[in-house]
Amino acid sequence: MSQLDFTGQVAIVTGGGRNLGRGYCLELARRGAAVVVNDIDGDAADAVVEEIEREGGKGLASRDTVATAYGGKAIVAKAVESFGTVDILVNNAGNVRAGDFADLSLDDFEAVLAVHLNGAFCVTQPAWRIMRERGRGRIVMTGSAAGMYPEQGYSEYATAKAGIIGFTRALAAEGRDHGIHVNAILPQAGGSAMTSTAGPIASLKDAKFAGPDASLGPYKSVEAVSPLVVYLCSPECAHTGLALSAGAGWFGRVFVGLTNGWTTPELGVPATAEEVARHFDEIVDTERYEVPDGASDELGHIAKRLGLATG
Ligand SMILES: NC(=O)c1ccc[n+]([C@@H]2O[C@H](COP(=O)([O-])OP(=O)(O)OC[C@H]3O[C@@H](n4cnc5c(N)ncnc54)[C@H](O)[C@@H]3O)[C@@H](O)[C@H]2O)c1
Repeated sequence: MSQLDFTGQVAIVTGGGRNLGRGYCLELARRGAAVVVNDIDGDAADAVVEEIEREGGKGLASRDTVATAYGGKAIVAKAVESFGTVDILVNNAGNVRAGDFADLSLDDFEAVLAVHLNGAFCVTQPAWRIMRERGRGRIVMTGSAAGMYPEQGYSEYATAKAGIIGFTRALAAEGRDHGIHVNAILPQAGGSAMTSTAGPIASLKDAKFAGPDASLGPYKSVEAVSPLVVYLCSPECAHTGLALSAGAGWFGRVFVGLTNGWTTPELGVPATAEEVARHFDEIVDTERYEVPDGASDELGHIAKRLGLATG
């Protein structure tokens, strides 16, 4: 495969002022993209633009928040006014409020949904309209392991990140006929500004940094994640609707599987709660499973298990 080249393409990276976002901006610009570096920390965004320009690339800072419709439109308008269009959007901006759920305020819960979920909506929609019109586009959303697996102490963050996966899948389905590919990444890079200011439960912090995370630590970096983002942004990537995990030199897919499950003995006779209890191990057993391609696939799976023909 030839070098992935973005010459003539326009990219927006939200939260591009530091850590992962900064890495994506620099790498896309090195490969020829004109990059709108968005960050509410405008000084950080300016610094990344300076780095891009020092390396001979094209960049422009945007200080708008992703969390409002006004901000989202302004970010996309900047790309259009300055560089003519938008081909690539990386929704990366993030915040977190960690802590015990019993103490979590609704304000904190909503503040995190506002940046991750509303933010993804507010920037994606104006970019989407342009991409749909042009019949092409690449969107990368940012999920997190915390949104896919049980993780104590981050209920607001997990909710937002799980929502991002649903949003990714829904837009991937809608984008298929319009040449718009939407995938999500679950990075494992460390170095977040957001977690350094959040106050996770002390006992969790100890547990988190023990074991595997400590051994991966020396290998975790932004550079170990950004190649996946670059590939997903490229026209060469024909995949859509996937959630991909990356960190420390490892890349993999995270998927939703449907177990083989348990079927009632007599079709049309509903199970009793006691039968469900008795067969619960079979219901949740993951030894045999399928990975449905869409919501209707689940219906197909149920019909198959019940021995019914699908039309
Ligand atoms: N670093 C990791 O290991 C890791 C793991 C899982 C998920 N993630 C996700 O990856 C993304 C980037 O993480 P990071 O470690 O680089 O975080 P970071 O905190 O270092 O950087 C996030 C950037 O987003 C900006 N931002 C916050 N709110 C914004 C808003 N309303 N509008 C525009 N910009 C805003 C911040 O100013 C900051 O520069 C986040 O979505 C995060 O949840 C990171």
